[in-house]
This record gives sequence, C-alpha cells and structure tokens, in this order.
Amino acid sequence: MRRFLVAGNWKMHGGLEMTTELISGISREVLNMATISEQRELAYDILVCPPAVLLQHAGALAKSLPISIGAQNVSPHTSGAFTGEVSLPMIAEMGCEYVLIGHSERRELFHETDQDTAEKFAACVNFDKSVVPVLCVGESLSERQQGQTELVVERQLNAVIDAVGIQGLDGAVIAYEPVWAIGTGETASPEQAQAVHAFIRAKLAGLDENIGQRTQILYGGSVKSGNAEQLFSQPDIDGGLIGGASLTVEGFVGICRAAQ
Ligand code: G3P
Repeated sequence: MRRFLVAGNWKMHGGLEMTTELISGISREVLNMATISEQRELAYDILVCPPAVLLQHAGALAKSLPISIGAQNVSPHTSGAFTGEVSLPMIAEMGCEYVLIGHSERRELFHETDQDTAEKFAACVNFDKSVVPVLCVGESLSERQQGQTELVVERQLNAVIDAVGIQGLDGAVIAYEPVWAIGTGETASPEQAQAVHAFIRAKLAGLDENIGQRTQILYGGSVKSGNAEQLFSQPDIDGGLIGGASLTVEGFVGICRAAQ
C-alpha cells in the first residue's frame, strides 16, 4: 500500500518568520489530528520545501517534528565554481530528505531542458539516495489542447529513464503538475488527473511492475482544501504537491485532513 505524501512548495515566498510560523503551526495542527484519530500513526507524510536560503532554519525547526524538509532545486554538481547553485551535499547537511527536480517553473522560466532534469535526477541517484528526487512532469495548455499530454509526459519521463534506467526511479516520487493548473485556480478534474497518473504508473509498471506499483505519484496544480478529497480519492493519486495553499497553516492542514 503506497503511503500518502502531502508536500508544500513555498517557491520564493516568506522568510524566517513565515518559515517558523508555518512549520510550528502545521506540526501543532497535524499532531492534534493524530491525537484525535486515537493516536493513529499519521496516514501520510508531510513535506515542506522552503526557499533554499531558509533550508537550514527549516531543517533545524523540523528536526523533532513529523515534517520532512525538501529543496526546490539542486545542482547536478557536488561542488565547484557554480555561482548561485546549491549542491546535494549542502541540502542533505541542512536536513533535506527530498528535492524537487524539473519543476515547470525551472523548465519555463530558467530554461531547464529534459537533459538538465535528467542530469539532476541522476545526481540524486548517484549521491546515495538519502535525498529523494521528486520528478515534476506536466503539459502546457496548448499541448493538452492538441492532445499531446501523454506524449509530453512520456518524453519527460523517458529523459530520466534513459539516464538512470527504471531501477533509478525506485524510491523516487513523481509529481504530475499540468502547467495550465499551476497558480491559475484552474484544477485538473479528478478524472483528468487520474488518467495521467494511470498513464504514468502503467509506463513505469511496463518496465518494472513493482516499481510501477509502489511509486508515489503526486498531483499538483491549484490543490485546495475544497478539492483535495476528490483528487486524493483517485486510485493512482498518492498525495499532492501544493503551491499557494501551502503558504498558510489552515490552507495546508485542510489538505492534510483530506489525506487522512
Ligand atoms: O509545485 C506546486 C505548485 O507548482 C502548484 O502551485 O499554487 O497551483 O498549488 P499551486
């Protein structure tokens, strides 16, 4: 049975104060929920991805709490003269257990190619697997309108599979984020999301049944507390990658409740 993962991508929002408020507020609410459900183990994992400059602060805060910390991006190089970059050893030292790879904003705004994404993913696989890669895939509105959704997602997956093989995806997380749903308030319908998640899972299972079945596939794109339950009830949706709604305790915890 795949565990649920509710992840918050804070993007370039907030500072020390927001990081402190969110991490302490989310863990307080979530621990209360665990108590309410008769001390049941949380049915899901929680991940927050603050801006890189706040990782150390967030890692220190979350150390003894039921919250994992992730980075939003990482260099494929482990050290060197790469101004402005952050390496896997650095984010691991700051307590990161996950890293987003190939987010659509990296692809669109910073012109990261499928190859760039594959190199970063391979760096995670070769690092020591202590930092779990969350591979982001998804199509643009025009690609969806032209019926190219599966073509695009398969191309993005193949770039990584060609680099690391299907075994390299064992233990990784995939996030399907239709670009047209990110930050727009326009969410994919549960049926639309489920169809792409099922396609992704079938693609992986076709190469390795076990990896296909156990890979967590998150949905991202305007997830809110009001639509999370319907999305999370889909058989191949194993949680969410949340943007805007993860910037408030009530918004994010409302989505965590849907994962229970
Ligand atoms: O990485 C998650 C993000 O891209 C989704 O953003 O604001 O549509 O939830 P949002």
